[in-house]
Amino acid sequence: MSPTPNSTPKKILVLGATSGIAEATCRIWASQGASLFLVGRNAEKLAAVAQDLKTRGATYVETAVADLDDTEKHPELLAHAINSLTGMDVAYLAHGILGDQAEAERDFNTAAQILHTNFVAPVSLLTWLANYCVQRQLGTLAVISSVAGDRGRKSNYVYGSSKAGLSAFLGGLRNRIDREGVTVLSIKPGPTRTAMTAGMPKSEKFADPNAVAESIVKAIAAKKDSLYVPFQWQPIMFIIRNIPERVFKKLNL
Ligand SMILES: NC(=O)c1ccc[n+]([C@@H]2O[C@H](COP(=O)([O-])OP(=O)(O)OC[C@H]3O[C@@H](n4cnc5c(N)ncnc54)[C@H](OP(=O)(O)O)[C@@H]3O)[C@@H](O)[C@H]2O)c1
Repeated sequence: MSPTPNSTPKKILVLGATSGIAEATCRIWASQGASLFLVGRNAEKLAAVAQDLKTRGATYVETAVADLDDTEKHPELLAHAINSLTGMDVAYLAHGILGDQAEAERDFNTAAQILHTNFVAPVSLLTWLANYCVQRQLGTLAVISSVAGDRGRKSNYVYGSSKAGLSAFLGGLRNRIDREGVTVLSIKPGPTRTAMTAGMPKSEKFADPNAVAESIVKAIAAKKDSLYVPFQWQPIMFIIRNIPERVFKKLNL
């Protein structure tokens, strides 16, 4: 399905813009002439991404360096970004951490950090953004969750539970604000080749971030509610969610 020109977003706020998946997505939007406001915590990486997007055809690119864990600064940051863009068609939330599962099993602070970055901080951003969009009766909130949130498993259940919380929040938010003209897209990638998965066994076989980004751009243009990407993760997760607990608890996943 290709986006129609009318549905191509023009003003896009990207939170976690230095993420491998976000950067690939922004390259497509830049080639479509979008205006982009990029937020990231690493000034050097952010500047490089911004420069690249300008050369690829973005109409407007502005940046803000921010640690998105700092929820108190969110209202000011978001208001500044939207002011800079003179409006907003899409907010794209891409930041996240995998964290260290083994460490999180020993140390609650490690677990709390994963939950804060992947769940609490997005809830703070989305609460503000949802109310902004509802006031205007338009906009799309596109948020990267994960297939890992569909069922907890021993190798990454702290990360998985942060994404499960995020997916549940997005479902409820959609149920609240879809009728107000605001689209909420839950994006659930399977394993994808980015900095987050570099060094994992068989990571060379993971999905190409450019292909993942292409599906995300199309899903946003089509105002979809949810996206498993690559698509085969939808039936795979259907099967995984339905494995009986007495069997699942004995698997090494
Ligand atoms: N790769 C996968 O297999 C996969 C699968 C499913 C879901 N996802 C999700 O996809 C999203 C994008 O991840 P990715 O694969 O593109 O990995 P990535 O390249 O490692 O991107 C993660 C991004 O989050 C940023 N970030 C983390 N904490 C932050 C904070 N407190 N403030 C601001 N930025 C912060 C990182 O910034 P720095 O560059 O400064 O570290 C980085 O740009 C994440 O939500 C991830 O959970 C990834």
